[in-house]
Amino acid sequence: MAPAAADIEDEIKDEKNPPPLDEDDIALLKTYGLGPYSTSIKKTEKEIKEMAKKINDLCGIKESDTGLAAPSQWDLVSDKQMMQEEQPLQVARCTKIISPNTEDAKYVINVKQIAKFVVGLGDKVSPTDIEEGMRVGVDRNKYQIQIPLPPKIDPSVTMMTVEEKPDVTYNDVGGCKEQIEKMREVVELPMLHPEKFVKLGIDPPKGVLCYGPPGTGKTLLARAVANRTDACFIRVIGSELVQKYVGEGARMVRELFQMARSKKACIVFFDEVDAIGGARFDDGVGGDNEVQRTMLEIVNQLDGFDARGNIKVLMATNRPDTLDPALLRPGRLDRKVEFGLPDLESRTQIFKIHTRTMNCERDIRFELLSRLCPNSTGADIRSVCTEAGMYAIRARRKTVTEKDFLDAVNKVIKGYQKFSATPKYMVYN
Ligand SMILES: Nc1ncnc2c1ncn2[C@@H]1O[C@H](COP(=O)(O)OP(=O)(O)OP(=O)(O)O)[C@@H](O)[C@H]1O
Ligand SMILES: [Mg+2]
Repeated sequence: MAPAAADIEDEIKDEKNPPPLDEDDIALLKTYGLGPYSTSIKKTEKEIKEMAKKINDLCGIKESDTGLAAPSQWDLVSDKQMMQEEQPLQVARCTKIISPNTEDAKYVINVKQIAKFVVGLGDKVSPTDIEEGMRVGVDRNKYQIQIPLPPKIDPSVTMMTVEEKPDVTYNDVGGCKEQIEKMREVVELPMLHPEKFVKLGIDPPKGVLCYGPPGTGKTLLARAVANRTDACFIRVIGSELVQKYVGEGARMVRELFQMARSKKACIVFFDEVDAIGGARFDDGVGGDNEVQRTMLEIVNQLDGFDARGNIKVLMATNRPDTLDPALLRPGRLDRKVEFGLPDLESRTQIFKIHTRTMNCERDIRFELLSRLCPNSTGADIRSVCTEAGMYAIRARRKTVTEKDFLDAVNKVIKGYQKFSATPKYMVYN
């Protein structure tokens, strides 16, 4: 027993004042909770961080921050060389070509209407590129023609081209079967089968006027046409052509058609054309003359002293009675398509189109709903659908029920009857 007791005593003594930890112990303790590779991983991570910092320093400030390329990509020498070689050019107009198609053809240019020069061509221009009446760029020393320039077109006209196709298709237009058919006949047939018209010896219809009460889908259908067509689509809102200075609107129309003519095929859509196409009258002051001039320029361009090419003109308005008869005569706008109020079947279809993306109950009787909205337009029906959704949101439901729709019909169709413009427009149609 004695040795054992001595051992225990020893241990107790040891615990009371343990020996100080030596280095090996500390190193061992430090590895507590670490995996076998953690030190090497840490080291690598640090290296990666340093490397990334180095790379960032070398790259300099990012391009996106300053709009400049990274300094490492700068090529100052060649930039300087280019600056010396390419001096800014002056815009001139080539008015005449003396002895064209020969070795020593000379060109008469007009610089800003103040000076005329007879000059030669620069090294980089071929004689076939230059035509009479063209805008050209000339250098400032010898006034040699350096570059042919495109015709001058107002940037605000260029902006009117619709590049992004709208996401409306013919399927999104409820009813309007006849109207769609008529539009497609005018717009698509001459482009897809021009030979049919040549064989018969008739000119294809040149333009369509869409008219009808507000909210019946005129703009909608034009957007569907723009979506379907491969032709260039130019959209002009009538009021855009009303400008401050005399002659500006007419000039815009001219440049618009000039741009349209430069395309292979082109559709020009004038929305809300009553802003400029009003019947001419004399108000004694002459305030509206400018608008009338713009309209007459359209008439002129429609007639086309210059060949009109493959340009189709669509116009939309809800006051056809105010338009000038000159604009409407056959030969300018051949087709007039009326957008009436949708009938029962069309209204059901429009309901279905607008509820397609909505989270509705399964069996809503759209027939009944459309029966409840007589004399209402597509826009009214769309508003009904939105209101029904609002009722559902107010009741904190996730789906729209038929009751919501009925409430919405009551609110929109009955409640807003005061604002409805439909009866007023029915007079005109
Ligand atoms: N036939 C239709 N099918 C589906 N939706 C329609 C229809 N008619 C109108 N709508 C809806 O009504 C909205 C307004 O229609 P749109 O912009 O075409 O009216 P508009 O005829 O151009 O009127 P305005 O003469 O006032 O310009 C459309 O965005 C569409 O949601
Ligand atoms: Mg419209």
